[in-house]
Amino acid sequence: MTKPKPLFHTLLLILPIIALFPSSPESRRLPFLGKHSLLHKPTNNIINSNYTYEIRYFQQTLDHFSFDDRPKFPQRYLINTDHWAGPSRMGPIFLYCGNEGDIEWFAVNSGFVWELAPSFGALVIFPEHRYYGESMPYGSRDEAYKNASTLAHLTAEQALADYAVLITDLKRNLSAEASPVILFGGSYGGMLAAWMRLKYPHIAIGALAASAPILQFEDIVPLETFYNIVSNDFRRESTSCFDTIKKSWAVITSVGQKVNGLDHLAETFHLCGKLKSTYDLSNWLDSAYSYLAMVDYPYPSDFLMPLPAYPIKEVCKEIDRSADGTNVLDQIFKGVSVYYNYTGEADCFDLDDDPHGMSGWDWQACTEMVMPMSSDKNSSMFPEWAYNYTSYAEECFNNFGVKPRPTWITTEFGGHDYKSVLKTFGSNIIFSNGLLDPWSGGSVLENISDSVVALVTEEGAHHLDLRAATADDPDWLVAQRASEVKLIKGWIDDYYTTKKSVFNM
Ligand SMILES: *[C@@H]1O[C@H](CO)[C@@H](O)[C@H](O)[C@H]1NC(C)=O
Ligand SMILES: *[C@@H]1O[C@H](CO)[C@@H](O)[C@H](O)[C@H]1NC(C)=O
Ligand SMILES: *[C@@H]1O[C@H](CO)[C@@H](O)[C@H](O)[C@H]1NC(C)=O
Ligand SMILES: *[C@@H]1O[C@H](CO)[C@@H](O)[C@H](O)[C@H]1NC(C)=O
Ligand SMILES: *[C@@H]1O[C@H](CO)[C@@H](O)[C@H](O)[C@H]1NC(C)=O
Ligand SMILES: *[C@@H]1O[C@H](CO)[C@@H](O)[C@H](O)[C@H]1NC(C)=O
Ligand SMILES: *[C@@H]1O[C@H](CO)[C@@H](O)[C@H](O)[C@H]1NC(C)=O
Repeated sequence: MTKPKPLFHTLLLILPIIALFPSSPESRRLPFLGKHSLLHKPTNNIINSNYTYEIRYFQQTLDHFSFDDRPKFPQRYLINTDHWAGPSRMGPIFLYCGNEGDIEWFAVNSGFVWELAPSFGALVIFPEHRYYGESMPYGSRDEAYKNASTLAHLTAEQALADYAVLITDLKRNLSAEASPVILFGGSYGGMLAAWMRLKYPHIAIGALAASAPILQFEDIVPLETFYNIVSNDFRRESTSCFDTIKKSWAVITSVGQKVNGLDHLAETFHLCGKLKSTYDLSNWLDSAYSYLAMVDYPYPSDFLMPLPAYPIKEVCKEIDRSADGTNVLDQIFKGVSVYYNYTGEADCFDLDDDPHGMSGWDWQACTEMVMPMSSDKNSSMFPEWAYNYTSYAEECFNNFGVKPRPTWITTEFGGHDYKSVLKTFGSNIIFSNGLLDPWSGGSVLENISDSVVALVTEEGAHHLDLRAATADDPDWLVAQRASEVKLIKGWIDDYYTTKKSVFNM
């Protein structure tokens, strides 16, 4: 069986559909609206009218680490002051660290932050990450994404500096220098939140880093972790489902090699166009399984796709339903249709989902965010392959003309020996995770100290805790959020106590 190339998409922490489809003005607020047939129409779940915000732009420095006289760029941020206790009462500021995508999409998917604001009397701010959404240097996305020189300033360090500069300026404008800042973030945004607390302790007093795989670098965690977790999520629902998926890759490859085999596959999987290689199909299936593991939420949701509660269970039901050992492809098609076509609205499936070429995360993955992954022959349901840095770097060079720096992130932010480092030098960070989430494997899952705390749920998935509360929330999720609130409240109380004793207020 041929081994797929290292799969780039698995490096995406969040499905970058929004980044792949520069939005037209009418679709700006509706990130899933595209010409893509597999995408569903937006529903009211996406636009939550309870989250109202003002959109503002801040003239941001392009390169914080040189004195190059480059033009500034407009960094977009969302702000809500409705519940803020104000500067005189040192009302807290909740800052969500924008991820690799349109900030409005992250804002509506981070209901927890909005729901906390009233009881904390907090101002809420969501700055957008540079090179995503509308926050484009060089005037437009096309210019910003032109080549390696224009993309050079798309880094996590620059993004953190953006947040630091922006919040410092905003606090000055509001005369709110004394207001404590709490950082929030999920996924890559969670990594940024944790790193920002470590790098800018004078700017933020604490961070909730949800599903933040800060250890998914070099060999800090076993390279098989990600795919093993995805596989275990399927195996825990049904071993026959796991076995069918594991078997299917070889079937796809062998059918693909037959005369008209690719056409047969295209027909079986209801593809819109011709299938160019079985690699594309395998990649598309791999995406479905990996994203399903991320959003294996306990209630129906509409994050990456509209899905039922515990969608992997439903996928496996479909796969197992028609199991007679002869129609593996059919079974797989029915299974992934739960992911790609739950609403039944897809006319056909379009695998060619990157018409604009480079996405921002691909650049980041080819420079600093090198997250090595392998797939183990025995424990994974995916085809076996070993991480090969040489071929990874070649692909990066071909795509962007750059060589990755795979050890830069750990040099800049740490990672090796993280336990003793965080214990000695870290404080006020919550690492929250759900163990169904494949990214939990690269996250901090143990309590490090009294104030660097891991809140782990067995049945949670990708930053479930950051989502808005629902009537269907299981007790363990309610408890996880309650622990977070208690810790954050403790940080803020401590801050006020210190202020009062220092300034005798
Ligand atoms: C808005 O908030 C109210 C009160 O908290 C709640 O009942 C309602 O369901 C929320 N609306 C949405 C769309 O979430
Ligand atoms: C990248 O594009 C910019 C803007 O068009 C151009 O000035 C620059 O020479 C290009 N750099 C490279 C390395 O091609
Ligand atoms: C602070 O005020 C100045 C002057 O009005 C404005 O240009 C700047 O954008 C403001 N800063 C922020 C973060 O909004
Ligand atoms: C999506 O589901 C509907 C309803 O079951 C079905 O008619 C349609 O063919 C499916 N689309 C694809 C691409 O399979
Ligand atoms: C995989 O399983 C086979 C058969 O059970 C065993 O011989 C082999 O050592 C296992 N390999 C690994 C890497 O665990
Ligand atoms: C890794 O990739 C390089 C470049 O594609 C190739 O030459 C080499 O044989 C690969 N190594 C292994 C162990 O597969
Ligand atoms: C970490 O400590 C908190 C109490 O502060 C506790 O609720 C939590 O379960 C602990 N986490 C782990 C992974 O043991």
